[in-house]
Amino acid sequence: MKATVFLGGGRITAALIAGLRLAKYKTRILVHDHHPAKLRELANRYKVAAELSLPGAVAQAQLLIVAVPPNAVSKLLYKIGGVRRPMLAVSLAAGVPLSTLRTQMGGPVRWARAMPSPVCRSGRGLTALTFAKGLPVGDRRALRLFFSNLGSVVELSELHFDAFTATYSPSHGYHALHTLAGAAIKLGLPPKLALTAAAHALGDSIVSWRGARIPLRTLIREAATPGGIAASVMSSMDRGNYGALVEKALRAGLARARANRKMSALPPGRQPS
Ligand SMILES: NC(=O)c1ccc[n+]([C@@H]2O[C@H](COP(=O)([O-])OP(=O)(O)OC[C@H]3O[C@@H](n4cnc5c(N)ncnc54)[C@H](OP(=O)(O)O)[C@@H]3O)[C@@H](O)[C@H]2O)c1
Repeated sequence: MKATVFLGGGRITAALIAGLRLAKYKTRILVHDHHPAKLRELANRYKVAAELSLPGAVAQAQLLIVAVPPNAVSKLLYKIGGVRRPMLAVSLAAGVPLSTLRTQMGGPVRWARAMPSPVCRSGRGLTALTFAKGLPVGDRRALRLFFSNLGSVVELSELHFDAFTATYSPSHGYHALHTLAGAAIKLGLPPKLALTAAAHALGDSIVSWRGARIPLRTLIREAATPGGIAASVMSSMDRGNYGALVEKALRAGLARARANRKMSALPPGRQPS
């Protein structure tokens, strides 16, 4: 029986499967990983099929999802070798371009890239998709439909994929929450109250911006009375080059993606393990 097959049974696979289960996704799900314990855990927890054999897993794929770390992609594709039947495959590997995927496993395999996040677990995530040129309309539709089980879907040019990846991670929200609450604790707020205040500041403001359809600049002006407390905090952040710091951080993410791209193009034997 054909299945949606995940190669790699780690963090993102577990989050996606949890989201698919929540969405009552009907197609059979099968996972391959080289750690039998991870496979057992996923099989017990989500009632998915587990397959230790890589060729055995690939043979059952109707949709193949590559979810191994970027530095493991080439080795994995090399191990799979030639695939003779037509197959739709999507790689989640950050920074690994379609050109590399096609070179390393081409033939009848039709490639796309997807960048979901662990928020997909709740069914309210966001997945970015980019398609190989010439990918048939039916495949594009199938991928949009698949990832819409997990939340919103946005399609972008591969040119923007890495910058989008660096920008949209929910880790920014968690990190900002941690940082803001940590600073509030230093001002003397009890930890629980500090988290409540920080979560309101970050989460509720974004929900309000999404719902109100009022320009961001207007909302900023509304929430920060000139000469008031919020305005003082904001201008202190600006004087401290908050914007430049965030840009520098995103550039570090972009550099990581470029390093993944370079490394993934090397033959498997020449890659770091
Ligand atoms: N985590 C996220 O939020 C997220 C979001 C979007 C995209 N991604 C992408 O998704 C991929 C997986 O990320 P992750 O966070 O889920 O990583 P992870 O937790 O490390 O899971 C990857 C799994 O694949 C296994 N693996 C590695 N090489 C293999 C091989 N040749 N055959 C079989 N299994 C193999 C790994 O085993 P070892 O531990 O032995 O390597 C590990 O169990 C990455 O390319 C990442 O860029 C991640």
